[in-house]
Amino acid sequence: MSITFNPETKVFDIKTKNSEYLFKIVYDKFPAHTHYGDLLGENKPDFSSPCYSFSPYYKEWGINYLPNDVMSEYVGFDSGDFRATSLRVQNEEGDSMVVLKYKGYSIFDGRVELKGLPSAEADENTQTLELQLYDEVNELEVNVYYTVFPEEDVISRYVKLKNASQKELLVEKLMSLLLDLPHHDYDMISFYGWHCRERQYQRNPLHYGAQNLFSRRGASSHQFNPFFCLCSKDATQDEGEAYGFNFVYSGSYLEEVEVEQTGTTRVQIGLGSDNFQWLLEPGEEFTSPEAVMTYSNNGIGQMSRNFHNFIRDHILPKEIFDKRPVVLNTWEACFFNINEDVLLQFAETAAETDIDMVVMDDGWFGARNGDNAGLGDWYENPKKFKNGLKPFVDKMKSKGVKFGIWIEPEMVNPDSDLFRAHPEWCLQCKGRELMQSRRQLVLDMSNPDVVQYLKDSFTKTFDGVAIDYFKWDMNRHLSQVGSPVLPAKRKGETSFRYMLGVYELYRWFREKYPNAMIENCSGGGGRYDLGMMKYSTMIWTSDNTDPHRRTHIQYSSMMGYPAATMSCHVSNHDNCIEDEKQLQYRYHVALGGALGYEFHLPRASQTAKDAVKKQIEDYHRDYEDLILKGDYYSLLNPYECNYNAYYYTNNERSRILLTFIQQESEDVKTINVKIAQAKEDAVYTDKLTGTKYTGKELLAGISVETEESRYNSRMWYFVEE
Ligand code: DGJ
Repeated sequence: MSITFNPETKVFDIKTKNSEYLFKIVYDKFPAHTHYGDLLGENKPDFSSPCYSFSPYYKEWGINYLPNDVMSEYVGFDSGDFRATSLRVQNEEGDSMVVLKYKGYSIFDGRVELKGLPSAEADENTQTLELQLYDEVNELEVNVYYTVFPEEDVISRYVKLKNASQKELLVEKLMSLLLDLPHHDYDMISFYGWHCRERQYQRNPLHYGAQNLFSRRGASSHQFNPFFCLCSKDATQDEGEAYGFNFVYSGSYLEEVEVEQTGTTRVQIGLGSDNFQWLLEPGEEFTSPEAVMTYSNNGIGQMSRNFHNFIRDHILPKEIFDKRPVVLNTWEACFFNINEDVLLQFAETAAETDIDMVVMDDGWFGARNGDNAGLGDWYENPKKFKNGLKPFVDKMKSKGVKFGIWIEPEMVNPDSDLFRAHPEWCLQCKGRELMQSRRQLVLDMSNPDVVQYLKDSFTKTFDGVAIDYFKWDMNRHLSQVGSPVLPAKRKGETSFRYMLGVYELYRWFREKYPNAMIENCSGGGGRYDLGMMKYSTMIWTSDNTDPHRRTHIQYSSMMGYPAATMSCHVSNHDNCIEDEKQLQYRYHVALGGALGYEFHLPRASQTAKDAVKKQIEDYHRDYEDLILKGDYYSLLNPYECNYNAYYYTNNERSRILLTFIQQESEDVKTINVKIAQAKEDAVYTDKLTGTKYTGKELLAGISVETEESRYNSRMWYFVEE
């Protein structure tokens, strides 16, 4: 049993393979947190109630229970706890105070699906604890869920509210996860960024006060990724404590990390107040999205691998194809200038070079010749596809490639038939000018008519067309977040309802086109989150395909997400890569994740085409399963030195793929790279050079000579004899 309750001690004990989570019901009323970390023996920490001045208390328990000073499980607003609180609900009196007391619990196998929201899939080991809390004055039931994935050392959390009163309640803040940690001796690793520079790594010591991550943009955003880690100050890849956190949601969010006077650290993840409100009518329920956490006492690397395993096994959709297709995408080569002839050339060259699929990016529909028009009009441009989409796609596929297509369902250009017919279908606030970004407006995905229109349009255009792949883009953030169809008192729900509409359409795509995979994209990796990963096999990592920048973006991404989620293309702004070393360097960087290509391959020389063909052959034959399914070990951090180095290995540790990237020019030196996962008694051959190494040698480290010039890379593929 992963979850137990001891009725004598009143302790709930949640165990994973390598971690333990404990809390206790004190005074029969309050769930007080006591431990999250290593597996413990008989000696478990007990509830303690320190006592600081100015802390309010209840008459019954006096200073033996000071809500502000204890470690808690879930905390109502204005309930005597001045730290960040989890739930704020305004009642008809205008009071927002919430006091939560213990009512009961239930423990069951498996999990409950979250209606309308993405959530992790259960397996035979999954168990759930439902902790039932109650606010007496508001007659509000608050169920806090702990779902445990023991093999991956992951615990997920979410909350369900039920208004059991006869009055309306306005939910103003709803967190999915609260975790109190007993000290603040941690570093926080998180990713900031912007378009083309997403997921930039930062590691900072925690300080007194709030150090929050958030998005108010209606998308999880390029600006702060929802993944973060708290680790001991001395934590390295291989040693020390590391807690990882993430949110299975793609819209606006709030993650609070707060160190208060007591020196404890409060972590919260959920729907913050800036972009969230929900009206609960009598009898209604509302469920928050799911947040996840993991713990490792074997360094940051193990924390990452916990999440890698969890995301691969419980979040990502099943692979559609036996081998993940290597794509050739038209965007950087053609932008909007696509037509049948160009695409057919791409298909022929793809077939020649063993590329599996051509993805026709933006520019194929409506009056789309630039970013100013066409979004919303999801029918093929008759000037570009004279005989319609189906015969064209059939022709493409007759060349021996799969076919993918670009869509951006959530958006509309003012210059489109859709907007002319339905200006009321975009997000707006009465009396305010509509603000554009990339010359587009945001469709009101909270309106079921809009979602139905999209389903009907795509059905009409795509039914009967042999599409293998959708690239689902989203190229602006949400402003003026009001839905014209919601009554005034429900307007604050637009942001969350928008996401429900998006998820509904994603699910519809998955069901309607079960043989097609989805690549998610939001101007690159602007929605690189677990919500999107539930429906998309991979995500376009960044619009920045410069390998130097990609090295940084991919390094950070790998800390929270598996390589299988990273779509990585060999590309070049000059649109051709004739230089052999450049082509290899870009390939080596792209092998950090799922390989693809994005340059004008039809124009490349035969030599370059032959090189690409060889790259793909090697990838499918030797590397792909290691990268997409293997265990990842990071050796050097490109934010802290001039190199990136990492390897992937299989379970048996009989195959090891090592990559070394040098970023800038420097005086030549020798770097020692240790392969700690090599088997001591084994003998390995590097298949790329034929050189033999004993396991002992790999453990002691191989010597890598750096070069004077910048942008160098090397790979080794060690296979046990
Ligand atoms: C942004 C994406 O990230 C690009 O790859 C491309 O699909 C463009 N949008 C098309 O408009």
